[in-house]
Amino acid sequence: MILVTGGAGFIGSNFVLDWLAEQDEPVVNLDALTYAGNLNNLRPIENDPRHIFVHGNIGDAALLSDLFTRHKPRAVVNFAAESHVDRSIHGPEDFIQTNILGTFRLLEAARAYWGGLQNKSDLRFLHVSTDEVFGTLGADDPAFNEETSYRPNSPYSASKAASDHLVRAYFHTYGLPVVTTNCSNNYGPLHFPEKLIPLVIHNALRGRPLPIYGDGMQIRDWLYVKDHCSAIRRVLEAGRLGETYNIGGWNERANLHVVTTLCEVLDELQPRSDGKKYSEQIAFVTDRPGHDRRYAIDARKIEAELGWRPAETFESGIRKTVRWYLDNADWVENVTSGSYRNWVEKQYA
Ligand code: NAD
Ligand code: TYD
Repeated sequence: MILVTGGAGFIGSNFVLDWLAEQDEPVVNLDALTYAGNLNNLRPIENDPRHIFVHGNIGDAALLSDLFTRHKPRAVVNFAAESHVDRSIHGPEDFIQTNILGTFRLLEAARAYWGGLQNKSDLRFLHVSTDEVFGTLGADDPAFNEETSYRPNSPYSASKAASDHLVRAYFHTYGLPVVTTNCSNNYGPLHFPEKLIPLVIHNALRGRPLPIYGDGMQIRDWLYVKDHCSAIRRVLEAGRLGETYNIGGWNERANLHVVTTLCEVLDELQPRSDGKKYSEQIAFVTDRPGHDRRYAIDARKIEAELGWRPAETFESGIRKTVRWYLDNADWVENVTSGSYRNWVEKQYA
């Protein structure tokens, strides 16, 4: 049994679906079902007895204690977080509550349970984090490696950095068997359409503007979500305790390039009815405050130590992603009704 938190969100639900497709070990999935969590993501396993969904908060100490005692997980994989930088700029409070305090409560519950275990190697805590904790790079700087200093610049990345530090401290102070992963930008199926790639696909198909912040030359290192999930499984299996592993796809791309690539794939797979190109919908808008210019991951440690490699290139992953959104219009319709309208839709009303 493993305990996954945030398993109704984008990466967490991909992880749970892939996990159960590959093996029979059951999953307890604890998720608060915020705007970003959606049970529709888990529909293929809704009647699967190996999947136990628990609607609850990682900040709820009593619930956590009960889950550990009842299910005796051999591993915790902590995805639960507030994850959108723009939202963290508008309202950081939830990021502090979930990413910092929530992770603290989860660590405390894990420590209490682990303290009572006869065999201390019967638990492993994997904390899922981001490359954004390292801050921003100049054009010629080397990519982030595991020794790069933390310099978070947004409330989101600062809250993730704080949680990473707590995880590290629980290893050094209490010996809790932890491992942390710092991954680059993910994209793929089940991605909520507030982040760049799903937002652009969603807006393109509705004839809306495709917003590019600033000059669009900011660089992100993109990884297909299924590759992130395989890396996490590998680190869970063989990562060394107390270590951190950077995960990335060697796919640095400028935002404008990402958006034009999406437009080209859409032109091919679902051309506009008026014969025009989707790129005509591109709109340069005011930049995000404190916008990090470049992220890049040096993934040599996980490759050399654990033999992990991504299966998708940027081009193959983008094609799969566009195809998935075209084939899953009902999913998009479902997640963009309700609270989504309060955030993204109002910008295009
Ligand atoms: P997401 O926003 O899509 O999903 C987050 C999930 O956590 C949702 O299901 C939400 O309901 C749940 N959640 C939020 N607060 C909770 C709480 N207090 N208790 C229980 N559940 C709660 O996020 P994502 O993109 O899937 O990211 C998952 C993790 O991976 C996060 O920790 C994020 O920092 C990290 N990460 C994301 C990326 C990326 O590109 N998306 C890259 C690297 C790391
Ligand atoms: P995003 O998907 O929000 O991820 P993150 O901020 O965690 O990297 O944004 C990816 C990049 O795209 C980032 O540089 C901001 C930019 N961006 C836009 O240009 N327009 C948009 O509408 C969004 C949501 C993001």
